Amino acid sequence: MRENPLVLHVLGARPNFVKAAPVVRALGELGMRQGIIHTGQHYDALMSDVFFADLGLPEPVANLGVGSGTHARQTAALLVGLEEVVLEQAPDLVVVYGDVNSTLAAILVCAKLGVPTAHVEAGLRSFDRGMPEEVNRIVTDSLSDLLFATSPDALSHLAAEGVPAAKVHLVGNPMIDSLFAALPSLDPAPVVERLGLPERYAVATLHRPANVDTPEAARELVSAVLEVSRQVPLVVPIHPRGRTRLAEAGLVDGPSVKVVDPLGYVDFLSLVRGAALVVTDSGGVQEETTMLGVPCLTVRPNTERPVTITHGTNRLVTPALLPAAAGKALADGAATPSGELPPLWDGAAGPRIARVIAAWLKGDNLSPASQGTRSE
Ligand code: UD1
Ligand code: UDP
Repeated sequence: MRENPLVLHVLGARPNFVKAAPVVRALGELGMRQGIIHTGQHYDALMSDVFFADLGLPEPVANLGVGSGTHARQTAALLVGLEEVVLEQAPDLVVVYGDVNSTLAAILVCAKLGVPTAHVEAGLRSFDRGMPEEVNRIVTDSLSDLLFATSPDALSHLAAEGVPAAKVHLVGNPMIDSLFAALPSLDPAPVVERLGLPERYAVATLHRPANVDTPEAARELVSAVLEVSRQVPLVVPIHPRGRTRLAEAGLVDGPSVKVVDPLGYVDFLSLVRGAALVVTDSGGVQEETTMLGVPCLTVRPNTERPVTITHGTNRLVTPALLPAAAGKALADGAATPSGELPPLWDGAAGPRIARVIAAWLKGDNLSPASQGTRSE
């Protein structure tokens, strides 16, 4: 390895920024030479720039501007753009995050160029290959050199797929590190006032293709969400993916529904912190509500984050069962099964990842035991 190795982080979509910030910060504290490649998968200011500001991320060294498209078109543009920039920058390690198309493309490019890679949030599985993210997860994990897991179930998934245990490190959850860091700034009052909400309200965020991509799914979902709004006033920061279809299905401003643009990280989590209930299909929001102790109903048939159910406030619901489940959650409040957060969700995942990366670049593959982390 070179004297002064270079680590590049490939980021493209909203949840990537949240997961990467603690890793970038911790590597910076170790004096690592590093840079961010922004693929441009998300490009609206409210889906991208606001996160760089809220999370204190440094300016990217490159923005590929790939934008939106079908899976094939977007992935093709990502492959072409990333190959060029990885060749030009010649990194010693590329770090990828989560399960989005930018993650998949970066892993493929690096595997073909022989550039080592690390995957943060490895081993999550919904076992639903109808989700584009599940395909991205499987391919990414199979090609990564270092795999950082956020929860113990991920370790058994990776073992079952034949990933050598020596590559895998259970490090906790960097998305929760970001939340820990933001906690002192999370104040619901100003956002509640700005949006004209009452003291008791619920938040909904919905963007999964299975929920928003067809008029039928959107109609079923919106009808359930509107029923929830008859029990508690609802604010919906709308992801651009579902904006038109959900509006066509009837999700528009009304006496007890407020549809707003996507919110910045601090504003959104402030709102969640003060909410009586969250309705979502987001991966990250299932984790954040677990940590904040806010009841969460996830409108999906499965989750790749079962610890948010076993250790948290999350429940899976169908659209048909959502209104009744909301009524119950509003009556019960946040009942966490154990009262304990998932292991290592303690705000120190970023430093753990940085230590493993630094040692790996020096040629030591720190055994999970010597890191204070566990592997199977
Ligand atoms: C992507 C990820 C998904 C993740 C989500 C986080 C994939 C396959 N999916 O889904 O796993 O949960 O990001 O938010 O990578 N759009 C805008 N402005 C933007 C970005 C997108 O208007 O800044 C609109 C475009 O119409 C675009 C659509 O949203 O076609 C979908 O964007 P895309 O990045 O393809 O997928 P997401 O649904 O955002
Ligand atoms: N988020 C945000 N503003 C919003 C909605 C979500 O800042 O209006 C944050 C949320 O707190 C979490 C991340 O975006 O940190 C999750 O992203 P998203 O739901 O888009 O993706 P997923 O986690 O489903 O892949």
